[in-house]
Amino acid sequence: LASIEVNVGAVEPGMSLTVKWRGKPVFIRNRTPQEVDEAKAVPLGDLKDPVARNANLPADAEATGIDRSAGEGKENWIVMIGSCTHLGCVPLGQSGDFGGWFCPCHGSHYDTAGRIRKGPAPQNLAIPTFKFTSDTVITIG
Ligand code: FES
Repeated sequence: LASIEVNVGAVEPGMSLTVKWRGKPVFIRNRTPQEVDEAKAVPLGDLKDPVARNANLPADAEATGIDRSAGEGKENWIVMIGSCTHLGCVPLGQSGDFGGWFCPCHGSHYDTAGRIRKGPAPQNLAIPTFKFTSDTVITIG
């Protein structure tokens, strides 16, 4: 499987980057402390999809703020496949009712952790296999 390296050193808090991996857009966002806090404050019971959908974690990991992120010490970073889990449109960043992503095709709203909160999409945005291979480089795949 092809992997790619992405330098995120210039991506300040509140900024995002979209890269292409295996033909799909991958969203990388350096979340602001407020966005991280908003995601953490949501009770799991409020989530339509309570599963993390994080390829780096066990399949039954819960969709907590931390398990949707790059993990301890890197909780500000979120890396997700930019394909709506309804029918695959590309959601727009920093939009929608939950300040995360909004899919204009049929109105799915994702929160600041990429979790589906409203609309027809059944699942949280998928998190691909990735890791920080240095302080500023993310290897995806
Ligand atoms: Fe995103 Fe339908 S494809 S809401």
